[in-house]
Amino acid sequence: MLFERGRTAVDCCVPNAQEQNYLTLHLAIEQRTDMLNIAIIPGTSRPQALNPQVVAWAKDQLAGREDVRAEVVDFGEFNLPLLDEVIPAGANMYQNDHTKAWGAKLNEFDAFIFVTPEYNHSISGSLKNALDFVAAEFNHKVAGIVNYGADKGVRAAEHLRHILANYKLAVVRDQASFSLFTDFADGVFTPTEVSAAPFASMVADIVSWGEALKSVREASAEVQAA
Ligand SMILES: Cc1cc2nc3c(=O)[nH]c(=O)nc-3n(C[C@H](O)[C@H](O)[C@H](O)COP(=O)(O)O)c2cc1C
Repeated sequence: MLFERGRTAVDCCVPNAQEQNYLTLHLAIEQRTDMLNIAIIPGTSRPQALNPQVVAWAKDQLAGREDVRAEVVDFGEFNLPLLDEVIPAGANMYQNDHTKAWGAKLNEFDAFIFVTPEYNHSISGSLKNALDFVAAEFNHKVAGIVNYGADKGVRAAEHLRHILANYKLAVVRDQASFSLFTDFADGVFTPTEVSAAPFASMVADIVSWGEALKSVREASAEVQAA
């Protein structure tokens, strides 16, 4: 504590308002850096999709945890057209503002949870299009997948794993898979315990891999800077 004129020794053991604000701010920053920042990515832009219900459920599962901060990041809010960048994303030379904004948002995160439906045995065209805009934002990060569909969406999840591998994005093994027939009732998401169970182990791996990969990103940035 600062020993200011007019403050007794006893006063100096008690932080004044300014010091309290300072301590609170630093505590918040420390907590923030300890936390893994996870973006939950909705997997479709289809009107009246079931997707928002599954996304909300995933976000609820992470609420109250002290080791992660989760935010829904919807590519639908970035007004992405069909891919209109001239130079492939790997070159990191984005020309369009929508690409720059989408990339900058993804850059904020250490980890991703993709919540994908299955369309024609794969992910939605809209998610694939959104992914095609970016590249380095996913490098040396970690992801998990939540999938759903008539056949639980497992084929979409497998396709997504192939796609994400190209981003040097480590996808953890466990994934939560939900059936339209047993995990939804009259269009309302009602996940069974058995379907939901892998979500916890998926997040546990996301957290441990996510922490480990922070140092990989630091090392990679140092190499690029050299
Ligand atoms: C274009 C399209 C293709 C689909 N193809 C499949 C499929 O291949 N396998 C499957 O299990 N369900 C398939 N379905 C059913 C979806 O899994 C189901 O409609 C689900 O609700 C889609 O998620 P959404 O409501 O969030 O869009 C398809 C649905 C759509 C709209």
